Amino acid sequence: MEGLEGRISELKKELNALIVAHNYQRPEVQDIADITGDSLELARDCTEVDCDLIVFCGVRFMAESVAILNPSRTVLLSEESAGCPLADMIDVEDLREWKQRYPKAAVVSYVNSSAAVKAESDFCCTSANSIKLIESIPDGEILFVPDQYLGHYTSTKTDKRLILYPGYCPVHRRLKAEHIIRTKELYPDAAVIVHPECIPEVIALADAALSTSQMLRYAKESPARSFLVGTEIGMLHRMQKESPERDFHPLSMGLVCPDMKKTRLENVVQAMEERRNVVKVPEEVRVKAKQALDRMLAVG
Ligand code: 13P
Ligand code: SF4
Repeated sequence: MEGLEGRISELKKELNALIVAHNYQRPEVQDIADITGDSLELARDCTEVDCDLIVFCGVRFMAESVAILNPSRTVLLSEESAGCPLADMIDVEDLREWKQRYPKAAVVSYVNSSAAVKAESDFCCTSANSIKLIESIPDGEILFVPDQYLGHYTSTKTDKRLILYPGYCPVHRRLKAEHIIRTKELYPDAAVIVHPECIPEVIALADAALSTSQMLRYAKESPARSFLVGTEIGMLHRMQKESPERDFHPLSMGLVCPDMKKTRLENVVQAMEERRNVVKVPEEVRVKAKQALDRMLAVG
């Protein structure tokens, strides 16, 4: 192996490191990763690995979750500025204000949130287990932050009463019902799969609303041969690679998350060579946030 890929493989051995990448990463970054997955898989799988250093290719909240769950390991975020605009829509002060408004409510934060927000929450969830998690909470009000669309979708699948914080993912919110109607005209037999961060009008027209790794499994198990995919465009690489006999089409070419695209192989090499961008979470925040994440992992 030559070039950047070769250097990464040398550094991995030297540092006893593991490279972990989210499904939205650039194809070349996904291809050098030891583990690729959705937010839930990455959080869970990183607790089971044997290494000294975890090099995370994705956005900050995901790397923070790994650092919270693995205090004995060093976690590097390959590109320091990779954040999530949805996670930035709520800070601790906002959450405290909402908690005062609904003092009896259990607080569920979507993992797309800061460590500090998780520390103020009772539970975390991802798009892969939000329904299961909400179902596991005893009856009563539930404050769901920060993604109103995942919260809304989840509420349609349970009888629980959810109070929704008005955050959203700017990437997924771009996808409109017209995109599905127009693309379906070109591929009438294709199955439509979208992420639950999409708006309700989009979810209503889809065959399924799924987390990114659930999309991979759905495509492998479905009788359909073609799929119209409503999520970040990076997802298509892994889908096509794992199901080469099927075809995948984006519902819109505008579904690009700029933060997910910030990480390049050069960033991975630099972070490893200089051991820079160490993800640090203050201990008192980490301990509280871990409780909310552990409750999430407990429901599976
Ligand atoms: P997944 O948990 O489905 O991978 O989604 C994470 C995300 O950021 C979606 O925009
Ligand atoms: Fe955040 Fe949306 Fe990008 Fe996912 S796609 S990381 S929710 S901005």
